[in-house]
Amino acid sequence: KRVAILISGGGSNMVALAQSMTGDHPARPVLVLSNDPDAGGLAKARDLGIDTAVVDHREFPNDRSAFEDRLHVTLDAAQPDIICLAGFMRILTEGFTARYEGRMLNIHPSLLPMYKGLHTHQRALDAGDVEHGCTVHEVTARLDDGPILGQARMAVQDGDTADKLAARLLPLEHALYSAVLRRYAAGDRTPVILA
Ligand code: GRF
Repeated sequence: KRVAILISGGGSNMVALAQSMTGDHPARPVLVLSNDPDAGGLAKARDLGIDTAVVDHREFPNDRSAFEDRLHVTLDAAQPDIICLAGFMRILTEGFTARYEGRMLNIHPSLLPMYKGLHTHQRALDAGDVEHGCTVHEVTARLDDGPILGQARMAVQDGDTADKLAARLLPLEHALYSAVLRRYAAGDRTPVILA
């Protein structure tokens, strides 16, 4: 299976996914695409020998469909079987996601369906949650809402801040996303639950 990974920033999830696709793994990374030309993940992808591309959303002010058309063309040139959103920070319209229904994944730093959208760690702290975590789901037209393919949980600790939570969660994201992709690429949609 050919996997394209979309990033916006450091790309630590992209690195984890790329490094998991070795040996008898049914998938290989074929493209890393960023909406931000300055994303640190682009250099990491090049170091890993993965083709990269940039579709800069700032070149399409007030024209989301032109941005998504360019995304679509750039993505399809790599002929991906699976698309992984990994720290990708642009909202995709129904028109775009519909083209990739059933083969686009996303990782979200909360225990969905709680805390869709942004600032998930602070919202969990503000709610006094004793548990936090991350979720991998299939991407559908509704934001952070598709079928859940995996979750990883961890305890909230006294004195936790949003930054501390985010930092402690990141390695769990890497483990979860890699485990989900391995299953998903083998055609198995059984959710992965990491305690
Ligand atoms: C991670 O918390 C991820 O869950 C969120 O973006 C953050 C950075 O991800 N979507 P990465 O290091 O760019 O993969």
